[in-house]
Amino acid sequence: MRDALRECAPALEVSERDSAFAWRVAMGATLARGFLEARVREHVKRPSSLEPRVRDALILGAFELGYLSTPTGVVVSQWVDAVKAMAPRASGLANAVLRKLAPLREEVRDARVRVRSGDFEAADLERCAGIARWLAERLMRSLGKRSAATLALDLMDAAPTWLVATTRKARVRTLERANLDPHGSALPGIWRIESPSRLEASGVLREGFAVEDHSAFEIALASVPSRGALRLEVGAGRATKALVAARASANGGAPDRFTCVDASEERVEEARRRFLDAGLEARILVGDGRLLDDLLGDERFGMVFLDAPCSGTGTMRRHPEIAWNLEPWKVDPDAPGALPALQLELLKSASRHVEGGGFLLYATCSALDEENERVVRAFLGSAAGADFERGKLEELPIFAEIDSAAKEQLITDGFSGSSFFPRSKAGGPDLHYLAVLRPTRA
Ligand SMILES: C[S@@+](CC[C@H](N)C(=O)[O-])C[C@H]1O[C@@H](n2cnc3c(N)ncnc32)[C@H](O)[C@@H]1O
Repeated sequence: MRDALRECAPALEVSERDSAFAWRVAMGATLARGFLEARVREHVKRPSSLEPRVRDALILGAFELGYLSTPTGVVVSQWVDAVKAMAPRASGLANAVLRKLAPLREEVRDARVRVRSGDFEAADLERCAGIARWLAERLMRSLGKRSAATLALDLMDAAPTWLVATTRKARVRTLERANLDPHGSALPGIWRIESPSRLEASGVLREGFAVEDHSAFEIALASVPSRGALRLEVGAGRATKALVAARASANGGAPDRFTCVDASEERVEEARRRFLDAGLEARILVGDGRLLDDLLGDERFGMVFLDAPCSGTGTMRRHPEIAWNLEPWKVDPDAPGALPALQLELLKSASRHVEGGGFLLYATCSALDEENERVVRAFLGSAAGADFERGKLEELPIFAEIDSAAKEQLITDGFSGSSFFPRSKAGGPDLHYLAVLRPTRA
């Protein structure tokens, strides 16, 4: 969908404003897809016979009715016209269904008022963000009512766009020349840009910059090894965090210092290309992180960073498809084959490669306790975790590499104690989790 929107907008010569509107409708309707589809189906006699294109048009129209302020008459007539153009015989049905859905706006508005007041139930979160009821319940349980409310109220808005430098040569001047209005942070190597619609055409993503959330960037910094130490990343993917860490390392991701492992051949290939483009070196391996002993023998590292595969529920503003693609069993701590079981297995496997005095970091971009604290607790309670204890974020090597303003920023954002998880904040960063573990043996 993103690719289609990017490719279509220039071809159709639509204005920046229309293009932004198309993005909003497409992303919002994706986030609320299951909720809206259920509403549409309530008003159709034989929902299974709805043509997919007609169903999609009705979902998009229902989104505009429920979540945007376009006058009802305009929404109905435009989506009826759209249906007429695709399936003329269904236009009467589209007209009837959309008219019946008109009260949705009030229903969503009332739910938002209750959520804002703090006196609400899971059904209100479901309506206000269009997410599944079970997910609303788990978010409330994991984050508490207040943070879950902030998260849900913010889900329909675009996430802030931060760019990180992934090469040593990347300079803020490049962003300024591209008219992206960059604003720096106290942390070196990251800028917020105010004109994300210009990002694609600007070409800066091919000039040593990548889009990365602010909290994800902080986690990448946390994974910088001590001077001279070896760093292993499991779940290194396309290596965005590894590149940030290499760039920020005093010894600069020297050739033999960075090892990346990922199960996806495609991502590994891209990671290799990106390291090459950045003029940095790393050993990048395809492999299953659960079988690191086969891949690495008894090699040990001073910094072992597991960037675990997860539900991505902390990043739903950027990836709204997660809200309805995720099935409840996938985050069930007791379900074999679900994410928490995989995360625990990966953490146990990674723990065997930490050298005495080193660090074992566990990170996710999940908002759910089932994938965060519960996995860490299960690890510490297991035989593999018996030789580990929680470490302190402020003991991380990065604290020795940055100036006091940058340190202050990390601490203000939540880098104290043994785990990091940003507070939900309107227009704030995504929810990424990080736990620091340290071996108790020498
Ligand atoms: C959170 S993403 C990684 C993002 C990456 N660290 C970055 O900064 O660009 C998790 C990664 O785990 C990988 N993965 C999933 N299952 C795995 C497994 N069993 N072993 C190793 N990697 C795995 C996925 O391919 C995915 O790239």
